[in-house]
Amino acid sequence: MTHASDGGPLIPTGSGVIDAEHSSILDLLSAMTAGGPVGPAELTALRLEVAEHFATETVEMAVLTAERRERHEQAHRSYLASIDALIVTAERGDPLTGDDANRLMLWFIVHSNTADTELVEAARRAGDEPPMISMDEWLDSLGEADRDALRS
Ligand SMILES: [Fe+2]
Ligand SMILES: [Fe+2]
Repeated sequence: MTHASDGGPLIPTGSGVIDAEHSSILDLLSAMTAGGPVGPAELTALRLEVAEHFATETVEMAVLTAERRERHEQAHRSYLASIDALIVTAERGDPLTGDDANRLMLWFIVHSNTADTELVEAARRAGDEPPMISMDEWLDSLGEADRDALRS
């Protein structure tokens, strides 16, 4: 996995809360892809952190259209299902491969840099105030008689 010089493969989304949660999850995934243990304990810890993070994003999704919200939620459900499947495998005592950890990492990076960036941008736009519209300027564009009548 290549790391950009700014400290990691994740593009900041612009949301401090979401970026901090991404960073914690990336730390867990990095330990696994660096050759650390990938057993039931590590996977369960990852699942807890990821589920909490997805709950944070669900709150932000109120600004999305229903179709986009469902697509994003479906992606989250699918990732949690992948982790659950790996937990079952690990609990059976079957060894997990480096590829399993790499796939978890790759999904997380791609999802964070696309769907999550889109989500934060949508939330930011929803919070933008409309431009101020000056009534005086509008009145100035009227004829004098109308203007005086409206200002009186
Ligand atoms: Fe995320
Ligand atoms: Fe997400």
